[in-house]
Amino acid sequence: MNAPDKAKAMAMRPLPEDALILIPMRNTVLFPGVISPITVGRPSSIAAAQEAARTNKPIGFLLQREAEKSDVKPNDLYWVGTTGNVVRYITGNEGAHHLVVQGQSRIRVLEFLEGWPFLVARVAAVEAQDETSPEIEARFLQLKQQAAEAIELLPGAPGELSLVVQGMTSAGMLADMVANLLDVKSADKQDLLETFDLRRRLDKVIARLSERVGVLRISKEIGEKTQKQFNERQREHVLREQMRQIQKELGEGEDGESELAGLKKAIDAAGMPEDTHKHAAKELKRLQRMGEGSAEGSMLRTYLEWLSELPWKNEAAKPIDIAEARKVLDEDHFGLDKIKRRILEHLAVRKLNPSGKSPILCFVGPPGVGKTSLGQSIARAMGRKFQRIALGGTHDEAEIRGHRRTYIGALPGNVIQALRRAESKHTVLMFDEIDKLGMGGFHGDPSSALLEVLDPEQNAKFRDNYLGVDFDLSKVMFITTGNVLDTIPGPLRDRMEIIQLPGYTEEEKVEIAKRYLVKRQLEANGLSSERTSLSEEAVRAIIADYTREAGVRNLERNIGAVLRNAAMRIAEGVSEKIEISEKDLRVILGPKKFENETAQRTSVPGVATGLAWTPVGGDILFIETSKVPGSGKLIITGQLGEVMKESAQAALTLAKVFTGENLEKVDLHIHVPAGATPKDGPSAGVAMFLSLVSLIRNQPIRSDVAMTGEISLRGLVLPIGGVKEKTLAALRAGIRTVMLPKRNEKDLEDVPAEARQKLEFVFLERVEDAVRTAIGELPTAERKAA
Ligand SMILES: Nc1ncnc2c1ncn2[C@@H]1O[C@H](COP(=O)(O)OP(=O)(O)OP(=O)(O)O)[C@@H](O)[C@H]1O
Ligand SMILES: [Mg+2]
Repeated sequence: MNAPDKAKAMAMRPLPEDALILIPMRNTVLFPGVISPITVGRPSSIAAAQEAARTNKPIGFLLQREAEKSDVKPNDLYWVGTTGNVVRYITGNEGAHHLVVQGQSRIRVLEFLEGWPFLVARVAAVEAQDETSPEIEARFLQLKQQAAEAIELLPGAPGELSLVVQGMTSAGMLADMVANLLDVKSADKQDLLETFDLRRRLDKVIARLSERVGVLRISKEIGEKTQKQFNERQREHVLREQMRQIQKELGEGEDGESELAGLKKAIDAAGMPEDTHKHAAKELKRLQRMGEGSAEGSMLRTYLEWLSELPWKNEAAKPIDIAEARKVLDEDHFGLDKIKRRILEHLAVRKLNPSGKSPILCFVGPPGVGKTSLGQSIARAMGRKFQRIALGGTHDEAEIRGHRRTYIGALPGNVIQALRRAESKHTVLMFDEIDKLGMGGFHGDPSSALLEVLDPEQNAKFRDNYLGVDFDLSKVMFITTGNVLDTIPGPLRDRMEIIQLPGYTEEEKVEIAKRYLVKRQLEANGLSSERTSLSEEAVRAIIADYTREAGVRNLERNIGAVLRNAAMRIAEGVSEKIEISEKDLRVILGPKKFENETAQRTSVPGVATGLAWTPVGGDILFIETSKVPGSGKLIITGQLGEVMKESAQAALTLAKVFTGENLEKVDLHIHVPAGATPKDGPSAGVAMFLSLVSLIRNQPIRSDVAMTGEISLRGLVLPIGGVKEKTLAALRAGIRTVMLPKRNEKDLEDVPAEARQKLEFVFLERVEDAVRTAIGELPTAERKAA
């Protein structure tokens, strides 16, 4: 309180006994029992608050009929209000005074009094009602329940609130509290305040609240759906806005005028092509006219910031040093010689003909084989920045190409966003999961947008919807990755140079672990190689017993888990130095996950180990057959396509002929577990045939033999695909002998040398060859009988 105010206050006439100092409220209805922050700014209100504080008297709060009115007369006010005690009084720095007020009781104005620099009136208290009737009790319970539900649905509601509600003992208080929190117009709140009859008031509050709960329920549903989309788009916008506000508060940001000057400078320095610069300058003028306060102004400024921050300049690319590139590729990745060679060739072509339109590299292979990390390595080798865009599940072309600026919360698509992050046109931009690109639909086809990005004929003039001007992408080096080839849209595939990464053999994995993964995980877990080591046996055991994958991602994860355990033991002081050996794995990683499954499964007749090609790089699968009394039917289960069912029929016919058994009194049941892709069906023909023969003859199949091959009705074994992946899968599963169709013998070239050395291959011309290898001849006695 400053001196003149104080003098005035001292000189003030005392109030009559039944009179109350009043503060008119523009928007707030104070309810009894509710604590509420109230800001007063009008001189008369400040004087009222100060006088009340000085004399330690309550204040009466009355709602104005029109919020805008500043100089209020008695008739501008509702005559029913609430008394409140000021529990805190805070003087703000801009002349605003903040009160924290606790509402006491309802009052009705009897008559306004003159002669004070603020409003004063004689008032009568409105008596609170008796609450003990069953009708009130029932409504009280209902309101409690509803309030609890509403609190749960409210996004930011504090947890204590529901405790407070549950602990309430007075229906009137609860009704007032809920009324206070309701998101309704002030006039409606006033109506609730003026409803003195408790039963009627409870009914009104319940009705309002249940309306609200309904809306909340729906909006929660919608909210959950749109939240994610909204978040991503809006996040950046909101963050920028906040940053600006914070800078302003701290006095760091430049204010309006010079901020625009800064933007102008940035636009001029960005090196935009001439017409783009003209366009930006025009938009900047528009912004200057508009002022920044408006929503449109802030959107326009965001747009200009985007324009000014993109790497427009045509800097010269760093020359590619092939020798250096080779070194970098070797440093980052073990093996992959063929692949590295192709990458270097690709770089050499780029070097010789930088403006030429070289195809886009596309790495295809199972998870964890190093596709993404090869991309990073290429960027490092070329001295460029690396950016990654995940395309999996992209359904909306706007994700690639952006939304028009007219759309609220619009932003550029992810290509332009990546380039801004990279701050240079000479960026390596990787599109991951190009094989999982969503189909075009309602929102336009993302693959055609992607085509525009990747196509060297078009991408020098790439137009993002948000930018609305062309941006030259021709200097960007694009790389794509995917798990499988055949779901990559054809027109995209045509523009790419496909490089397949089939997966690693055990030996390669051991080397990768020793040279890279262990080192990296030691570092990640704050361990030194002097104090912690992982024996080679342990690494091998992790590969064989705990992971079954083409890549090395689970291997790395498991190595991480093992080393974290060591880190913990060192931290606990259990030991100084730790060498993890194979026998420790059981304790740390639990029982083996892939312990000789083949031996267990194939110990009974009727189970054959097949080899399947899957998008994650080949796997073994068990084809199981059993027989039950019946009438010669064939039952097939598992997720099989038509082709595979036909294959099973053929296998049965062949098996009948081959064994010469009469199977009229039994039903045969073939089960192929899920996981084998239906389209891969035909390659299981030999395995189905063998499992039937094994069952009929009651002789088990050798557990270390796996097979793949289609069959003809005449017993010929026909060729299949995916030999390399299937062979690697067999090796991983501990198989020793692999049976392949004779006509696939030539594909052995592609199989890694390690697999060729460790596996024995048997090439089948006819199904009988398979029986000989995997089951053996009939015992002599039986052969005679047959
Ligand atoms: N030949 C290798 N030498 C060294 N590390 C490797 C090699 N291959 C893979 N890695 C490592 O394995 C991990 C997984 O590789 P990456 O993330 O590149 O797999 P990806 O092929 O992109 O898989 P996804 O299809 O799941 O994206 C990385 O940490 C990578 O460095
Ligand atoms: Mg990847």
